[in-house]
Amino acid sequence: MTILVTGGAGFIGSNFVLDWCAQHNETVINLDALTYAGNLENLATLDGNPAHVFVRGDIGDFDLVARLLAEHKPRAVINFAA
Ligand SMILES: NC(=O)c1ccc[n+]([C@@H]2O[C@H](COP(=O)([O-])OP(=O)(O)OC[C@H]3O[C@@H](n4cnc5c(N)ncnc54)[C@H](O)[C@@H]3O)[C@@H](O)[C@H]2O)c1
Repeated sequence: MTILVTGGAGFIGSNFVLDWCAQHNETVINLDALTYAGNLENLATLDGNPAHVFVRGDIGDFDLVARLLAEHKPRAVINFAA
């Protein structure tokens, strides 16, 4: 199964993603625009982990979000993007 996390490179989102990956055997699609607040260093320990799929993009990009929903069919969306 899969969840979609938005803003997952930010302060709360990255801690959520790290915690989730440590506790669940479930893929995380992490959609983040990497603004000034986003930092992939927060997620460095997940490098090479196939359960974490990072996508750089804007939650306002309808086509991108529609594609991610159709492709991965997440059972939940958790929004931390702001
Ligand atoms: N940090 C707190 O103490 C706190 C307290 C209460 C509520 N919140 C709320 O929780 C949410 C997350 O807070 P945070 O402290 O992790 O923020 P943050 O600024 O550290 O992280 C936000 C993330 O969202 C990403 N982002 C911004 N706009 C985006 C967009 N259009 N599309 C995709 N990604 C985008 C940024 O790149 C960043 O990685 C916010 O809504 C914030 O208001 C935070």
